[in-house]
Amino acid sequence: MTPIRADAAAIAEAAGAICRGDLVIMPTETVYGLACDATNPSAVARVFAAKGRPSFNPLIAHVLDLPAALRQARLHPLARRLAEKFWPGPLTLVGPRQADSDICELASAGLKSVALRAPAHPVARALIEASGKPIAAPSANLSGRLSPTHAAHAAEDLGDAAAFILDAGPCALGLESTVIAVDDEGHATLLRWGAITRADVEAEIGPVSVAGETSTPAAPGMLLSHYAPRARIRLDVASPSADEAYLSFGPVARPEWLNLSPTGDLVEAAANLFAYLRRLDSSGVGTIAVAPIPRHGIGEAINDRLSRAAAGR
Ligand code: TXA
Ligand code: MG
Repeated sequence: MTPIRADAAAIAEAAGAICRGDLVIMPTETVYGLACDATNPSAVARVFAAKGRPSFNPLIAHVLDLPAALRQARLHPLARRLAEKFWPGPLTLVGPRQADSDICELASAGLKSVALRAPAHPVARALIEASGKPIAAPSANLSGRLSPTHAAHAAEDLGDAAAFILDAGPCALGLESTVIAVDDEGHATLLRWGAITRADVEAEIGPVSVAGETSTPAAPGMLLSHYAPRARIRLDVASPSADEAYLSFGPVARPEWLNLSPTGDLVEAAANLFAYLRRLDSSGVGTIAVAPIPRHGIGEAINDRLSRAAAGR
């Protein structure tokens, strides 16, 4: 399948495909997702198969709003406060599954909790609305590869698996959503860094704990080698050696370098991160050296993704 422009007619056809149990690559404000009907276990199974994803990795179900989320999961008042502040947007809330949730077990990998997100992207929202289903959508990349921020990248990895690829241009944020679990007692645990920072969250609900990086993580997004290009990655490099490709940041520029943000803008850097790593990786270079990226704000999530990309090579 090749990408098609995500106009109203294409969205309507893609919604039909979702309802038939087919897979659709859809844009969101974070990254492109491989979407299917979250209530249909065979569709969900094909998502796991297409990605080559270990089946214990649970998927996020995308819904329109808080009332739709509450039909699927119990959300503690603190979780609701986060939803009211950050939805629609790049926040995923994990809560205890409702007894009558129609999200299939496979989508939540048999866990007693489900992950929910109300995306802000108008195409994702139109697809959810037209299909009338909660839409399960992991990032539209092969397991262990970089998340796609352009339709062409998703097509490269998963084009054969999708009935439609809806192209709405590059993703505005370029980093996956922040994932936070809130249990029935109101304990909030940050499971994955994302576009919404810890400071953003703590300003709303006070201190949250951060899931430990153990070998059996609460969120596989925390797996050390989750984001893995083929090339070796060397971090915090101020001056690359001659045989390395260089991903720079800030005003020091050379024509042969890719620059995440010449003006040193971390949000711009986040949006460019995966596309630039992918571009350097596909050049076949042995090592990609990456400039130091400041660790404040969304820089924390960028450094998190970079250290995962660098791990285990
Ligand atoms: O921005 C995003 O979140 C993108 C777009 C497409 O919405 N989606 C995405 O999905 O990144 P995925 O499947 O690549 O990541 C989902 C994350 C994983 O780290 C997964 O382990 C965690 O959410 N997750 C899902 N359900 C969970 C649950 N019940 N308990 C704990 N973690 C869960
Ligand atoms: Mg992913």
